[in-house]
Amino acid sequence: MMKRAIAVSLLVGSACLCSCADQPVYRDPEAPVERRVEDLLARMTLEEKVMQVTQWTYGKNMNVNNVEQEMKAVSPMIGSLLYRSTSAAFYNQVQRKAIEESRLGIPILCGFDVIHGYRTIFPIPLGQACAWDVEKTGESCRIAARESRLSGVHWTFSPMVDVARDARWGRVSEGYGEDPYLNGVMGVAAVRGYQGDDLSKSDAMAACLKHFVGYAYSEGGRDYHYTEISPQSLWETALPPFEMGVKAGAATVMSAFNDISGIPASANRYTMTEILRDRWGFDGFVVSDWNAVEQLKAQGVAADDAEACLKALTAGLDMDMVDDVYRRSLPGLIADGTLPEEVLDEAVRRILRLKFRMGLFEHPYVEELPDSVRYLRPEARAVARELAAESMVLLKNKEAVLPVRGEVKRIALLGPMADNRVDLMGSWWGQGVADDVVTILEGLRAEFAGKAEIVSCAGCGFDGDDRSQFARARALARQSDLVVLCMGEKRNWSGENASRASLALPAIQEEFIREMARTGRPTVVLLSSGRPVDVRGFESEVDALMAIWQPGTEGGNAVAQLLSGKVNPSGRLAITFPLCAEQQPVYYNRRQAARPRSGRYQNLPHDPMYPFGYGLSYTTFSYGTLRLERTTLHRGERLAAEIEVTNDGTCDGKETVLWYVSDPVASISRPMRELRHFEKQSIPAGESRVFRFEIDPERDLSFPDATGERHLENGTFVLEVNGRRVEFELI
Ligand code: BGC
Repeated sequence: MMKRAIAVSLLVGSACLCSCADQPVYRDPEAPVERRVEDLLARMTLEEKVMQVTQWTYGKNMNVNNVEQEMKAVSPMIGSLLYRSTSAAFYNQVQRKAIEESRLGIPILCGFDVIHGYRTIFPIPLGQACAWDVEKTGESCRIAARESRLSGVHWTFSPMVDVARDARWGRVSEGYGEDPYLNGVMGVAAVRGYQGDDLSKSDAMAACLKHFVGYAYSEGGRDYHYTEISPQSLWETALPPFEMGVKAGAATVMSAFNDISGIPASANRYTMTEILRDRWGFDGFVVSDWNAVEQLKAQGVAADDAEACLKALTAGLDMDMVDDVYRRSLPGLIADGTLPEEVLDEAVRRILRLKFRMGLFEHPYVEELPDSVRYLRPEARAVARELAAESMVLLKNKEAVLPVRGEVKRIALLGPMADNRVDLMGSWWGQGVADDVVTILEGLRAEFAGKAEIVSCAGCGFDGDDRSQFARARALARQSDLVVLCMGEKRNWSGENASRASLALPAIQEEFIREMARTGRPTVVLLSSGRPVDVRGFESEVDALMAIWQPGTEGGNAVAQLLSGKVNPSGRLAITFPLCAEQQPVYYNRRQAARPRSGRYQNLPHDPMYPFGYGLSYTTFSYGTLRLERTTLHRGERLAAEIEVTNDGTCDGKETVLWYVSDPVASISRPMRELRHFEKQSIPAGESRVFRFEIDPERDLSFPDATGERHLENGTFVLEVNGRRVEFELI
C-alpha cells in the first residue's frame, strides 16, 4: 500500500507544469482554477498537504465554550485559522508569514463565526426568519461580508439551517425556525449575500452551511447530545435546506456533533459523501465542527486519534477544526499504508480550489482602513434597523393599546432590558461592541422627544430574588400613562450550550410583570429572547406583548419605531410558541396522526400558545377567495393560484402570505401541511394586492422516501392559505 501511495505521488509530481520559464501554473491568475489546483497539489510535500487540511485558532477566543483551547503559534503552512481579531494589520502580518515564510506561499483561509453580523449586529437568525424578508436577510449578509472581509475574514461559519424541533435547545436562535423550506430560502439568501456572484471580490466571503446534519434533533433539547432521527425525517426535514444551500453554491459545509443511527455526523460517509457530493454534486469542502474529530472517541466509534482521523477523512470530512488530530495522525496513517494518499489529496484539492476561487493567491492582504470606513456605515445601520423592526412579532394588542396614542404623555420604561446594550446583541455577536448598540431607552427617548417623557429604571434583574427596586418601579408606573416592560433572556441563555429545561422567564421577572400590570396602567411587555418563551405566567395580565428577539445594534430604534407606529409590525412567528416546555416538541408540520383528536395530555391543553405563522398588525387584512386557474394538472404542467388581500384598516402595512400544500393520501403518511411558498408585500391602507403562487408538481407536490428518492403520486392535493383551502388533482 505504501509503495502504491508513493508511486501515485511521483506520477502526479511529474505532471507539474510551468506557464513560463519560472512562473508555476498555480501562480498564473489566467490559468483555469482546476489546472492551478493540480499544479500546486503536485508540488506539495506530505507535510504541506497535512497542514492544508488543518485549522487552528488564533487570537482572542470569543466562543465561551471553547476558551480553554490553548492558543498555538501560527505555522506559515497552516491551511486555515479561526481568526478572532479585527485588526487588518495583525491579519496582514499573519498572512505575510504564510506568503513569505512557507515554501509554496499558500495563503491562509481565515474563518470566523459571523452569524448575524460582524460589527453591525443584525437580529438573530430566528428573528430574521420572522421578518420573512428574504432580500433584507441577503443584504444583512452582504454587509456582514464586507465588514468581515475588510478585517481579514474570508469565511463565515454561517448560515445555520438546522430545522428547529425543540425550543429548549438554545441553538434555535441561530437557525431560521421550524420549517425546512423557510430555512432553505433564508439559507440561500444568506449564502448569496455572503458570497455575492464572485467569491474573488473584495467584499465577498465564503459561506458554510451547518451543522450537517440532524443536530437540531438533540434529544430533549440538550446540546451536543444524542439525536434520534429517522431516515424519513432526515430526508424530509433536515436535509432539504442543505440541499437548497448547496445548489445555491455554498462554498463549504460544517459537519455536526450528533450521530445518525449511531454514526456520528463527522464520520458519516453516507451524508458527507453519498448525499452531499455524489447526489448533490457539492464541489466545496467540509470542515468539522470544533473538536468534532477528536470527539469521535467520546462518541465511541474510535479508539484513538488515528482511528478518528481515518474515519472522518475517509467519510468526506476535509478540514479538521482545531483539535489537531489530522495533523498528528495523517503522516503515520499514510506511512503505514492504512490511508491512501489520494484520499488526502482530494481533501487538499477541495480546500485549494476555494483559495483560488477567492483570489487569495493574487490578493492575500487587506487594505488597512480605519474603523469608520469599515464598520457601521449608515446603510448598514439602516438595514439593521429595518430588519430588526420587521423581525418583531406583535403577539397581543388588547384594545389597540399600541401604537402609543397621542394622549400618552409619560411612559415608564422598566425591566432589565430597558437600558441594556449587551443582551440586545444576542448570542454569537461577531465583533459587536456593546457601545454601538442603541438601547430601548435611547430609542424611545429619541422617537418620543417632544411628545412623551420617558421615565425609566430596571426595577428587577434577569433572575435572583432582589425586589428592592420594585417599589421605585411601581411608583414610576403609577405616574405614567403607559408602562413598557423590557423583559427576557440574557444573551447567553440561548445559543450554543445554552439549553433550558423551562421556557418560562425566571420567577422574579414574572412576578415583576404582574406587579407592574396591577398598577392598573396599560402595560406592554417587550420580550427579548433567543427562543420561544412560556408566557403563561403573565400574558393574561398585560395589554400587549411583542417578541423582539435579540435585535442587534439598532434594536432600540426598531422597538421605538414600532411603538410609535412609524413602522407597522409585520413579523410572523417562524417557530411555534408552545404553552410550556412540557408541550415540546411541538411544530406545525407534523405527520398525520392515527387519532388526531385523542391521545392528548390530560393535564395540559393541546394547542400551542401561538402557532407558526402567527403575528398581529396595527391594521387588518382581509383575504379574498383562493383561486386556482383549474382544478386538475398533469406532470410537467404548472398550476397558477392567487388570492387578493385587502388592507381594510387605517394604516399602511405589510402582509406575508404563506402558501401550504398537503397530500392527504399518499403511499407514506405526509405532514399535515407543508409551507411551499411565501411572499411579503406592502399594502397601503384601503388598497388590495394580489399574491400568486405557481405550483410546480415536481418541486411542490413530490416527496422523498427514506432513501431520498423522490415520488410524485397522482391524486388529490390541498392548497391552503390563511385557513382557506382548495383541492386539486394531479392526474
Ligand atoms: C460550534 C460551531 C462554530 C464553531 C466555531 C462550535 O462549537 O458548534 O457552530 O462554528 O464552534 O466557533
